[in-house]
Amino acid sequence: MARILVTSALPYINGVKHLGNLAGSMLPADVFSRAMRMMGHDVLSLCATDEHGTPAELAAAEAGVDVRRYCNEQHERQKRAGDQFGLDWDWFGRSSSPQNHALTQHFAEVLEERGLIEERSSTQIYSNADGRFLPDRYVVGTCPNCGHERARGDQCENCGKLLDPTDLIDPKSAISGSTDLEPRETSHLYLLQSQMQDAIRDWVDRQSWPSLATSIAKKWLDEGLKDRAITRDLEWGVPVLKDGKPRPGFENKVFYVWFDAPIEYFACAIEAEREGVLDSWERWWRVDGGADDVTYVEFMGKDNVAFHTVSFPATVLGSGEAWKTVDRLKAFNWVTWYGGKFSTSEKRGIFMDQALELLPADYWRWYLTANAPESSDAAFTLEGFQAAANADLANNLGNFVNRITRFAASRFDGHVPEGGEAGPLEAQLEKDLQARLDALRGHYDAMEFRKAAAETRAIWALGNNYLQEAAPWTAFKTDPQAAAVSVRTGLNLARLFGALSWPVIPFAADAILEAFGEGGEAPRWPASAAQALDTLKPGSKFEAPDVLFAKIEDEQVEGWRTKFGGADS
Ligand code: 2FM
Ligand code: ZN
Repeated sequence: MARILVTSALPYINGVKHLGNLAGSMLPADVFSRAMRMMGHDVLSLCATDEHGTPAELAAAEAGVDVRRYCNEQHERQKRAGDQFGLDWDWFGRSSSPQNHALTQHFAEVLEERGLIEERSSTQIYSNADGRFLPDRYVVGTCPNCGHERARGDQCENCGKLLDPTDLIDPKSAISGSTDLEPRETSHLYLLQSQMQDAIRDWVDRQSWPSLATSIAKKWLDEGLKDRAITRDLEWGVPVLKDGKPRPGFENKVFYVWFDAPIEYFACAIEAEREGVLDSWERWWRVDGGADDVTYVEFMGKDNVAFHTVSFPATVLGSGEAWKTVDRLKAFNWVTWYGGKFSTSEKRGIFMDQALELLPADYWRWYLTANAPESSDAAFTLEGFQAAANADLANNLGNFVNRITRFAASRFDGHVPEGGEAGPLEAQLEKDLQARLDALRGHYDAMEFRKAAAETRAIWALGNNYLQEAAPWTAFKTDPQAAAVSVRTGLNLARLFGALSWPVIPFAADAILEAFGEGGEAPRWPASAAQALDTLKPGSKFEAPDVLFAKIEDEQVEGWRTKFGGADS
């Protein structure tokens, strides 16, 4: 039994996430955690909302509520959406927690003691009307590159160009709209990443990440690590202290959100321990506290890779303390909405809470796993979604389970049939199943989600082919013993399908397992095909579950296209 610690990139607090966000970190992290739990490993799965920074302040201002209250509400919304999606976190924390504040202060102190943090002054935009310095995003104006009139000081949303606030034409404050802006000198804390270049390169060289992650890290290292400002002119965030009091000159500043957010990976476990969910957070996160045998696995979208392979390691390695660092990193490309961007403001795409109003979580979980954006971006289309759900879930899996359980319920009185000897058909099935079970396990171990879904689908198909050939419905009249064998085998397959589906479609899996008197907790990974086909005791009772997956009709898709924007949006 291994100890496996899983985190997924912490979702920003500003609103429930769309299906693309879900598919690129939280969902695969959950599928992986569930698969590992089934294999008997000791898994700790952590996630949290990323609550600081300009996105939170701006979203709260737009919603017209105080930022703390905004975060409280949005955290609950995201937690609820996650629970309803079956994201089975051990703890879903908050980067605004006191634990994270304390730990962030701790890192800043230690890094400064070790000479890796320095105060430097630079020129920044000051707004006279607002009486404050404006962070880059709070300055808006016309993009010098494309002429877009509401470009932000850090980047133009229209053409994507990275900007400096001083590049903008006719700059204005995003808070008041005032144009009374001037450059002024101010101080910030800098993390001296340039001094850690060699240590980080050594560390990166020792990792065996997939090429997407390694190449991003190496690109940054080859360009040379730059010292990086880790404070911002904001109110909402982790305050900058010195000896427990506001640091002089930093009274109106907080730590940069990307400095404190990844520290929440650790702090999240401290929150969990305080809530009694965990015995000892050190046993998971501190190599000197018992975590030396932990394998730490991170899930994230490709835009987060540099932060996780270079910037955050600079914080952690720079501290000189014995924190766990990432062992395995799984990065994803984008899920697009018909090849374009998901957009809240333009009502393009489906968000997690909306998805659940349309269909149960398993439909989305299945499609997003089977089409995970692993080697390239993957387009979400309602048509593709409908086709996959109908073929895989309704026909391949659902029909199999419903057909065999109903037949057995009516012909064998709701009991697993006794009698009959397995023949060549069952021997062949066992052989094929063994090969596929081995392959499936390999795909989960390798974190290859598309392949894992394809293999699961192939196992369902194996069952369908078997029943097709064994045809107990005909044999029942002519050869009742043979019918008993194939129905018993079919019921064992149905139960096995429930177990094997659990990582990806946990709700349907539970419904299937409950029909056989199991469910509610992680099913065991089958020891072998032979064991899987001989799990149900002859004579034991079962119940036929309700229809597992209703088909998605064309009219439904039609309606969703209008509501969420389809191919031509
Ligand atoms: O890109 C994002 O959505 C960030 N909120 C991810 C943060 S991951 C971690 F470091 F906190
Ligand atoms: Zn532009």
